[in-house]
Order: sequence, then structure tokens, then C-alpha cells
Amino acid sequence: MTRTQRAYVETYGCQMNISDGELMAGILEARGYAIADRPEDADVILVNTCAIREHAEQRVLGRVAQLKGLKTERPDLVLGVTGCMAQRMGDDLARKAPYVDLVMGPDGYRRLPDVLDRLRDGGEAEAVPPALATVASPGSRKRGPQLTVLDLDTGENYQGLEQRRTSEVAAWVPIQRGCDHRCTFCIVPYVRGPEKNRDPHEILAEVAGIAAGGVSEVTLLGQTVNSYVAGEWSFARLLEAVARVPGIRRVRFTSPHPNDLTPELVEVMAREPAVCEQLHLPAQSGNDRTLKRMVRRYTVDSFLEKVEMARRAIPDLALSTDIIVGFPGETDDEFRDTLDLMRTVRFDDAFTYKYSLRDGTPATRLPEGDFIPDAVAQARLEELIDVARGIQAEINAGEVGRVEEVLVEKGARDPGHVLGRTRRNKVVAFPGDLSWVGSYRTVVLTSTTGATFAGERITAHEAVEVGG
Ligand code: 5AD
Repeated sequence: MTRTQRAYVETYGCQMNISDGELMAGILEARGYAIADRPEDADVILVNTCAIREHAEQRVLGRVAQLKGLKTERPDLVLGVTGCMAQRMGDDLARKAPYVDLVMGPDGYRRLPDVLDRLRDGGEAEAVPPALATVASPGSRKRGPQLTVLDLDTGENYQGLEQRRTSEVAAWVPIQRGCDHRCTFCIVPYVRGPEKNRDPHEILAEVAGIAAGGVSEVTLLGQTVNSYVAGEWSFARLLEAVARVPGIRRVRFTSPHPNDLTPELVEVMAREPAVCEQLHLPAQSGNDRTLKRMVRRYTVDSFLEKVEMARRAIPDLALSTDIIVGFPGETDDEFRDTLDLMRTVRFDDAFTYKYSLRDGTPATRLPEGDFIPDAVAQARLEELIDVARGIQAEINAGEVGRVEEVLVEKGARDPGHVLGRTRRNKVVAFPGDLSWVGSYRTVVLTSTTGATFAGERITAHEAVEVGG
């Protein structure tokens, strides 16, 4: 290398992807790359992608085509597509977008610097050694000037590699990769492989390092984060240990599977002061027949029992969920059951989706007549959003007047205002200074838009505030 190479990573999709983007940047930085803030400043551009719904993929394809434009002036520029969509489309993507130099799935990042070296050397010979265990697609191979790295590695949990974290406020900590569930709508097991859990001691050392660097909020990440198990370590035990790391003031985790919300876990959540009063619990549907065909492996009643157990232990708990409407075969009455579930649980927040067919998932094999016309799914989605927003607005209106601890994240749109989150993950804007980013303020909630809050700092409480 004649001069320092610069890499730019652009991430789409879930928190795990954001964390993977930090991992790629960390791996490249450790090998001498400088990390660029803009694609225009980079020698290597990596678009880190999501495959969860078709819409997510289309967005990325458009973006990649746009970035191709930078190559006309700089033919040496390396354009890579990484992550779940890269894994899902594989050679197909390489064919459809011949200007893409590298297609790399989520288990290839350890080899990223070597693969980039090979690309720069002209991609001669066999690009990369095959992974120890290849469970899905064929091994790494070369396609003309392009490289595709698509091994799914049953052992790869990125042990020993560090993220490049840029936030001074909160840190994502991946504790698990892949997924052993087979929810029939979901592409994740096929693009991220089986569940792989990290060593608990390494996780704890990493959290201690994060706290030592002055960041006091961590979110533990995994596809089904609470099914984490490593020897004697359950997720509940790990959560407790993370919550007790000196300097850690807030711990969250996402996303749990309802079936692994154990009494032991709820007990730790209730007992450990650092564990936030917040739980994202994906329901997906409020109808037993649909849940069964989704292979979620719980019923509406057992989901409600989990909610009740959590709320009993943590009365102030803020609950959010994920819901899919228009799953193949969902009748209108079955959809109404989902609306009933929303009204019964009264979630503080809901992420709502129209079912999106993903090639290779079991649901694609359902009878053709089961697939729901888009207009019907769209109407259901809009009705669901209406109900969810209405409930959210009612809940939040009832919280105006509360005094909350807010971790300041960034400046708000209004000059002289900052934006932060309460322990219950509610967003609050209030008058404040950018120098407060990363520290805690005591705030009274003065009004709500329905979804977010405006607040005022309570200066009388200044004495009990602790800087973050
Ligand atoms: N179509 C629509 N939504 C999906 N999700 C996962 N797969 C699909 C799909 N094929 C949703 C689920 C999941 C969230 C991350 O994305 O609700 O919890």
C-alpha cells in the first residue's frame, strides 16, 4: 500500500447490522485503514445491507447503483456489498450489478482486509481459504474481477475482534449471532446461519472497556438474544453480570423471543437497578392459527402470560412489539385478533410490517391462493397503525408530568434543545446544551406529540445528577 487506504461503511437495517458496520470498520482500522465519513472520501465503499423485507433490498440496490457513479472518476474505487442481502442474493447480485467488486455475507468480515488486498492485486487465483465449516452456499470463489464470499461459518462469532464504536452515548454489544428458530416468514436463519454465542467473559471485558471509556448505556444484541447460553451462563446470568459492571448505568437488550422470557430473566430485570424498565417483545400476530403457521411456537394466551409475568415484576415496564399483517392465509377475522391483542396489551410502541415474501423461507411454499393481495395487506397495516398510534398517544398523554432521568443523545431540531431517552426508551426534547451529550439530566415531561415528549430540566435536582 502506497498511502493509507480509506474505507467508508454505510449501514442499512437492524441494530445487529449497525453493530456489524462497527465491526467491519474496526477490523479495517486494525489493519491500517482510515475510516471515512463520506463515500466521496473513500477508496473502499462497503454497503452493509438488510434482507428482512423486499423493500429494504430495493432501497439498497438503488443506493448501490448511485454509488457506482463515483467509479467513473475513480476506477480504482472498490465497491462492496456486505451483510444479509449480499448473502441472500450472492452470485445473482454479482451478475445483476457487475460494477460491484465484492459480495460478502455476514460471516466473512474477519477476512475482509485479506479479500480487499486480493481485489487490489487483481483477484488472482483462489481468493480466500474456504471456511472451516460451510453449511450453506458453496465456498468462496472468484467471478471475473469480482469476489463473492458467502460461506456461512457455524463457528464465527467474531470472538477477539473489536467494534469501532463512535457513539459517546450508548454502545451496541453483540452477544450472539445467527438464529436457531425457523419462523416461516423469516430469512435471518438462512443468511446469518445457526445461533453462535460469544464467550461471557469476553463480553464482560468488552462492557468494562466501554464503561471505562465513559459510555454508561449498553444494549445487548442477538437475533433471539435471550436464548443466549454459554456453558453455565444463561442470558439472565449474563444480563445480571453486565448490569453490575462498574460504570454501567443502563442496560437494554434486543430482540428477545417470548418463549425464552423466563421467570429467572424477569427476576433479574426487576432486581438489577441498571436494567431498564423496557422490553421489546415481538408478538408477530394475535391469532393462534397464524402464530402456528408462522411457527412462533407460542399461543396468544402464553404470550399474554409472559406479558403479565413481566408487568407483575416490573410494574413500570414499557413494552414494544413487532407485528406482521397479511401473513399468507390470514383471514380478516384473524387480523382482528391482532387488533384485539394490541388493545389487550396496550404496547407503548409497535413496529408494524406487511408480510414480504422472502425466497427460500418456508412460507413461500404455502398454497398460492393463501397469498394476500397487497391492497388488503395495506388496509390492514393502516388500520393496525391507527390502533397502535392511538394507544401510544393515550399512554404517553398519561405520562405527561412524570419526572424522568434522560440520557442526552444529541442536539434536537430546535436550536438550544437536546434530545434524549428515558430509561423506558421514550424520546424527550428539552432546552439544553450540546455539551450535555452523553450525560444524564432530570427532566419533567411537559407535553407529548403522541409518540415523543417535550420536557423541561428540573434544576433543583441538579445536586443528585451524576454526569455520564
Ligand atoms: N415480512 C415482513 N416482516 C418481516 N419481519 C421479519 N420477516 C418478515 C417478512 N418476511 C419482521 C418481524 C421481525 C422484524 C424484525 O421484521 O416482525 O420481528
